Amino acid sequence: MALPEHGANPHTVYEKLNMKQPTHVMDFSENVNPAGPPKEVANEWPQLMEKLSVYPDPQGEPFLSAVGKFHLIDTDCLFAGNGAAELLTFVAERYRGKRAIVVHPTFSEYEATLSAKNVEVIRVLSEEKLGFQFPVEQIMEEMGTSDVLYLCTPNNPTGMMPNEIDLLKIIQYGVEVSCEIVLDEAFIDFVDESLSFIPKLTEYPHVIVVRSMTKMYAVPGIRLGYVAANKTVISEMKTLAPHWNVNGIAAHIGAICLQEDEYRQQAIEHSNREREKLSGFLLEKGCEVTASVTNFLSFTVGAHRDSKKLYVDLLRKGIVLRHSENFLGMDGRWFRIGMKNEPEMTVLKEVLAEWFEEN
Ligand SMILES: Cc1ncc(COP(=O)(O)O)c(C=O)c1O
Repeated sequence: MALPEHGANPHTVYEKLNMKQPTHVMDFSENVNPAGPPKEVANEWPQLMEKLSVYPDPQGEPFLSAVGKFHLIDTDCLFAGNGAAELLTFVAERYRGKRAIVVHPTFSEYEATLSAKNVEVIRVLSEEKLGFQFPVEQIMEEMGTSDVLYLCTPNNPTGMMPNEIDLLKIIQYGVEVSCEIVLDEAFIDFVDESLSFIPKLTEYPHVIVVRSMTKMYAVPGIRLGYVAANKTVISEMKTLAPHWNVNGIAAHIGAICLQEDEYRQQAIEHSNREREKLSGFLLEKGCEVTASVTNFLSFTVGAHRDSKKLYVDLLRKGIVLRHSENFLGMDGRWFRIGMKNEPEMTVLKEVLAEWFEEN
């Protein structure tokens, strides 16, 4: 049974399993901010409509300048794209025919985009028995013979961050052995902006940071993200993208979102609160839980319980978890849960409690 590879679009899971989708579905497999897009986006909607009839700015303005202001960096070091997913495709082009390290379990698009460019992918595993900690020594062993290391910080699906000292050690070693580092910070907004590597890019020009607007601002539909890197990398990336690659409405929505300090703070607080509550609940029920710092976590019910049964039983009740069949090293035994609003989290815990009673 090959289940769909990504979270969200729950109907694809029901179709694949030949199950009837209940009328009301709660999709915990996706992990965007449950607050929905900032209110200001709706307020600006009539003005945004006017952007439909004009060509967008080719550089993605006013978004690009808003990003520059947000991170206090030059717009020459930034490139906007149709979501981090598109940007990962452009980044992969840089390593065509070369050798890349991917640390699993992680987001499937790294290997998908690299393989499409004939990159030799070296897999390093964060081991379950070691709590999915980033395997620093093993990563460094491979770096000497590789062109690039991909790291997801915090990592999807574990939600874990390498500690700052380890990350810096890896990055400094990259200078020594000429191994570039791609950091995917798609979920860092939920942790702490001060942990972003973007301010250190001038010191470490071999690092490329990929960011997504999708998760924090709950705007997966508009497709918006950016890359921060040294000017040469950015100029090369510009040659790969089609003209007007960011649509005008997305560029304006992105600029609005970046002004939302209070919205961001509330999202961080909500994510921390709900993750800690859920984590406590799952541990109490005898599950193992990843040491996530972001707006999702992964858990396993343990060898004495049937994880496939849990997945299907919950689907029948309209609760969709993110399976881990395509996450190397988790092999279907783990599930990822994205934090939702409080009433939905309560329903999830009630349904899980019932299942744990019976299983
Ligand atoms: C770790 C990670 N990076 C990047 C992306 C892609 O994000 P976007 O919606 O900006 O394309 C995802 C989407 O799920 C993700 O999980």
